[in-house]
Amino acid sequence: MENLDWKNLGFGYRKTDYNVRCYFRDGKWGELEVSSSEQINIHMGATALHYGQEAFEGLKAFKGKDNKIRIFRMADNAARLQFSCDGIMMEKLPAELFMKAVKLAVKLNERFVPPHDSGASLYIRPMLIGTGAEIGVKPASEYLFMVFVMPVGPYFPEGFKPTDLIILRQYDRAAPQGTGKYKVGGNYAASMVAGVKAKKGGYSAVLYLDSREKKYIDECGPANFFGIKNNTYVTPESESILQSITNKSLMTLASDMGLKVEKRKVPYEELASFEEVGACGTAAVISPVKRIFDADENREFMYGTEPGVWTTKLYNKLRAIQYGDEPDIHGWVTIVD
Ligand code: PLP
Ligand code: COI
Repeated sequence: MENLDWKNLGFGYRKTDYNVRCYFRDGKWGELEVSSSEQINIHMGATALHYGQEAFEGLKAFKGKDNKIRIFRMADNAARLQFSCDGIMMEKLPAELFMKAVKLAVKLNERFVPPHDSGASLYIRPMLIGTGAEIGVKPASEYLFMVFVMPVGPYFPEGFKPTDLIILRQYDRAAPQGTGKYKVGGNYAASMVAGVKAKKGGYSAVLYLDSREKKYIDECGPANFFGIKNNTYVTPESESILQSITNKSLMTLASDMGLKVEKRKVPYEELASFEEVGACGTAAVISPVKRIFDADENREFMYGTEPGVWTTKLYNKLRAIQYGDEPDIHGWVTIVD
């Protein structure tokens, strides 16, 4: 096993041994190929480079006490990549191929899966890009699908400690009927100016309002939003946010725990009534939020400086399933053997 400071990894790129690739050429997907190179050779006219034909995924693998490696909700990521492909006219990758490539990439880099007690995990980054050259704006006829992996710690450096978010109305990450619901690179490029501004101000992320009316909560730059009040887990319904697999899992777990679950439009004013607030995602896991600062109205919403009771229960339950400490009653986990 690799000798790393597993408990202090942070969230960043790290070289591992192998990546897995698959090319779409002449109207069909080829065989999976294994590479140890960090480079790809790409045509200068590739649609990914000019017109943003690029989608990616993010999922994680965890090592159990039993030393088995578990991948969390891989089929859901496979399906979401297909959804993103439809959204930006890319060739759809068969789900079976996605899952085979993910399992292979994890297996080949087994020595980088962090130990069970480290609290770290192996982040898996599948990506699909248009590699065919086009100068007119149209879909490529050739694509590359790749999976690479790296051990990571928490996305927000605070980990499971409450963090601050900021509302900046002059920036949108996605248009109301645009690409916000797809996991495509352009959304992240569009979020960088506001994201850097937030970080400079000491905030871990921007909390976006809906870009049509600025009346409702959308999501954070890299994570979904939830609030809890009156024994109810509330999370935004919106046409321009990513359908988070973590959030979907938390809705199920919240319901299992006896909370009511509401996925609906969440008016801005409701921020004042939540007892607990959090950001959730694969990279972020759950980040409890202690304060939301509305920079335009110079108004702040305060929550606990310690993680709330329900947020903590949800976090512990999710992690226990992911690390194999509790039974996988919903069938979310794939064991790599
Ligand atoms: N929202 C955005 C914009 C994201 O990039 C992510 C990360 O994947 C999420 C939400 C969380 O989604 P998931 O829980 O599927 O990782
Ligand atoms: C994830 O949670 O997997 C993400 O993709 C978020 C961020 C790193 C873009």
